[in-house]
Amino acid sequence: MPTRKLAVVILAAGKGSRMKSDLPKVLHPVAGKAMLWHVQASVATLSPEETVVVIAPGMADVEAAAAPSRCAVQQQALGTGHAVAAAQEALKPLLELVETDVLVVFGDTPLLTPATLQRMVDARAEPAAPDIVGLAFRPDDPAQYGRVILDDDQKIEKIVEYADADSAQRQIGLCNAGIVIGSGRRLFDLIDRLDSHNAQGEYYLTDIFGLAHQEGRPAGVVEGPVAEVLGVNSRQDLALAEAAMQDRLRRQAMVGGATLIDPATVWLSADTRLGRDVTVHPSVFFGPGVTVGDNVEIRSFSHLEGAKVAEGAVLGPFARLRPGARVGAGAHVGNFVEIKNAELGAGAKANHLSYLGDASVGPAANIGAGTITCNYDGFAKHHTAIGAGAFIGSNTALVAPVAVGAGAIVGAGSTITRDVPGDALAVERSDQEIREGRAARFRQERQAAKDAKQG
Ligand code: UD1
Ligand code: MG
Repeated sequence: MPTRKLAVVILAAGKGSRMKSDLPKVLHPVAGKAMLWHVQASVATLSPEETVVVIAPGMADVEAAAAPSRCAVQQQALGTGHAVAAAQEALKPLLELVETDVLVVFGDTPLLTPATLQRMVDARAEPAAPDIVGLAFRPDDPAQYGRVILDDDQKIEKIVEYADADSAQRQIGLCNAGIVIGSGRRLFDLIDRLDSHNAQGEYYLTDIFGLAHQEGRPAGVVEGPVAEVLGVNSRQDLALAEAAMQDRLRRQAMVGGATLIDPATVWLSADTRLGRDVTVHPSVFFGPGVTVGDNVEIRSFSHLEGAKVAEGAVLGPFARLRPGARVGAGAHVGNFVEIKNAELGAGAKANHLSYLGDASVGPAANIGAGTITCNYDGFAKHHTAIGAGAFIGSNTALVAPVAVGAGAIVGAGSTITRDVPGDALAVERSDQEIREGRAARFRQERQAAKDAKQG
């Protein structure tokens, strides 16, 4: 059977008022990425011809986040059916040209997987497939979800919103996940006929199911996993979605060959990439944009974001990698070392109490405890270059812009303001003074003074 063309509509224009937030609901992050990003990522696996995100007026931030998907504006939040109608204009050329299926998903269901969406697509590809298919699920607590009422043929008779349901209907355990797929023309034909005569005065997308049944062309149903269709409507839902997503990401990391010694304490971002035989100790945080090569060890309480770590490196405990940190193969980053927009070459070591910002550190260089790159002069950031095999003594301040050549040594406690040539020794501190016996005499004098006072 030839594959049908597919267009996707993602609904994101709702007020999200139950979140009590200035941030549009679909931009709230789960595993470091906006809910909308998760939905877009799952949808993208279906390779749709077009994806349209329906937003409300003034949602420029959602529009920016949605790119390269196109956006259509729903002028007023009059319900999910009204929202899908707002996408019709954008899809017109596609609907005219070919027999296209339209998949409607909600921007507030970040846990949806490509596998479940594929089941929806497949349900339409079957011989004599119903022209509309809805996704349902059976949660432990059906709460405020719409209830799905099936007819004797296991087709959808109608979907009743919680607010409109009578007590018998509220007993039904089969709930509407909100995801719908159908022939685009049929879907929009049904949507055109919706009204808002219901408890919430809204144009419910869910009413298309009752209309379709009345016309003798009832919709089919696919039952999906509860864990995927959790709709995020409140901060509590957001926390539940986060926990479920973390669980999923941890499992994926372990399946990929990483050891998480205490998985429940490791926080991952949706885009975290861990290589084979990576060991992550308890309590490690991966913010967005982290890639870790094979055989890396990350010890407890390390915090990484926007960082690339090459194979065999050892981080932490208490390492902090900020955006633009690049740690070379076999390099060591120890406790209370912060690296930002800086490269640590292969085999280099920064083991204790340092700040390396806007810097490049050559291979096998040694950065002593307490070394600081002074990269900021209050106006601009400046670069520090440290050559291969250089040795920077403890408690050195490198005032950028400055370069230390390959193989150079900087004496401990130096404040380096001028470039140090390769293989040179730079020491910047006053000469040490020695006064023989002075400490002993000092104590004698003080003791004598104390005794005189007491006597
Ligand atoms: C909806 C379903 C309900 C289902 C539940 C699953 C309807 C009428 N109800 O209810 O049956 O059990 O989802 O999570 O479809 N939106 C717009 N414009 C609007 C209204 C909503 O774009 O005018 C968007 C929202 O941004 C959101 C999605 O549609 O992404 C769902 O809206 P929401 O208000 O969360 O619907 P529920 O009450 O959860
Ligand atoms: Mg919802």
